[in-house]
Amino acid sequence: MTASQDLRFLPFALPHIEEEEIEAVAEVMRRGWLTTGDRTLAFEKAFAERVGAAHAIAVNSCTAAMHLALEALGLRPGERVVVPIWTFTASAEVVRYLGADPVFVDVDPRSLCLDVKRFAETVDSPRTGSRVAAVVPVHLGGLACRMQPIVELCLQRDIAIVEDAAHSFPTTAVTRSVADDSVKLRLVGTIGQATAFSFYATKTITTGEGGMLTTELPAVADRVRTMRLHGISRAVWDRYTSTKPSWHYEIVAPGFKYNMTDTAAAIGLAQLGKADRFRSRRHQIATAYDRAFGDLAEVECPANAPPGETHAWHLYILRLNLETLRIDRDRFISEMAQRGIGCSVHFIPLHYMPYWRDRYGLTPAMFPVATAEFLRVVSLPIYTRMEDMDVGRVIEAVRGVCRAHRR
Ligand SMILES: Cc1ncc(COP(=O)(O)O)c(C=O)c1O
Repeated sequence: MTASQDLRFLPFALPHIEEEEIEAVAEVMRRGWLTTGDRTLAFEKAFAERVGAAHAIAVNSCTAAMHLALEALGLRPGERVVVPIWTFTASAEVVRYLGADPVFVDVDPRSLCLDVKRFAETVDSPRTGSRVAAVVPVHLGGLACRMQPIVELCLQRDIAIVEDAAHSFPTTAVTRSVADDSVKLRLVGTIGQATAFSFYATKTITTGEGGMLTTELPAVADRVRTMRLHGISRAVWDRYTSTKPSWHYEIVAPGFKYNMTDTAAAIGLAQLGKADRFRSRRHQIATAYDRAFGDLAEVECPANAPPGETHAWHLYILRLNLETLRIDRDRFISEMAQRGIGCSVHFIPLHYMPYWRDRYGLTPAMFPVATAEFLRVVSLPIYTRMEDMDVGRVIEAVRGVCRAHRR
């Protein structure tokens, strides 16, 4: 069923699975090798080529990829990692997995990505406590952070960059990378020491659950390959399929169980082939929204990528001009639901989450931008299964709610 056939309710997000993905999974099942195997290797190779990264390592989530990246880069208990306050908890929880502590930084009001000036101040502030060992820039909704100043600062201060690209395949940015000082257009996945992508069900391409780590650094790639599967010194697939007698393996560290299955990788390979078609459809939808809402005083459209750069458009985060409306954001979302449109909020900033708030004594006053912007964000549906009629319904609903509730 297409999204438009269900006129009762347009969900906020739906994965785009076609016969090709179903057949690819069936083929894996028929062959009988279900766990990490040649489909996973093929997916890693194809993803590395698409991003232009030296190494791509498939795992079972973006969270796993960030955890493995920080572990491989040697993050130690008590060290600090800068994380934007405006993100999903995964970007920060992986820091705690390793006994280190996140230092939360406010975001830029336009992009909702890490505020670079505040990042620099935090690195220098005595209040930050022990050394900042890493930063996790989150390319929110598919828009790249301002990477050039982040890379420069991190290189000067020996701070590792682990990019949270859960929303950002494919995204580009004009920047230097940590490995190369020429400033040019680069795909996210080739800029910091490591980048983590998500293939969760609603992401720009999906494997159901899944993730990918890319890196240019052979030492990081080796460590991640070992740690994603129990700390085994060679891949299990190799152990079972090698023609040489090879039951032997060694455990070199207490690793994790983060490997990707071949069933997931088969879906990923099919989705990867469609990534550009998917992105251009999401871009089309974003452009339609921008055009439709440009003249509405009650809303503000999200930041676009600078000219020449690519926005992945995983999210379309509309902002309400609350002073022009008689309703608040929550009521706006229920009014949209009454008109048959599912909306969401990305994200509830982490200073509102009991664990982060209480552990680090976070208050709204510490994050004035996130606190103010949180009250007025509404994520609209933006996914490839939406037909033009669905896009039209969303536009009509936004305009209708604004008309009915303007001051
Ligand atoms: C910004 C961000 N980072 C990380 C993640 C975690 O991704 P995964 O579910 O693949 O671990 C998400 C998930 O939605 C996210 O939105």
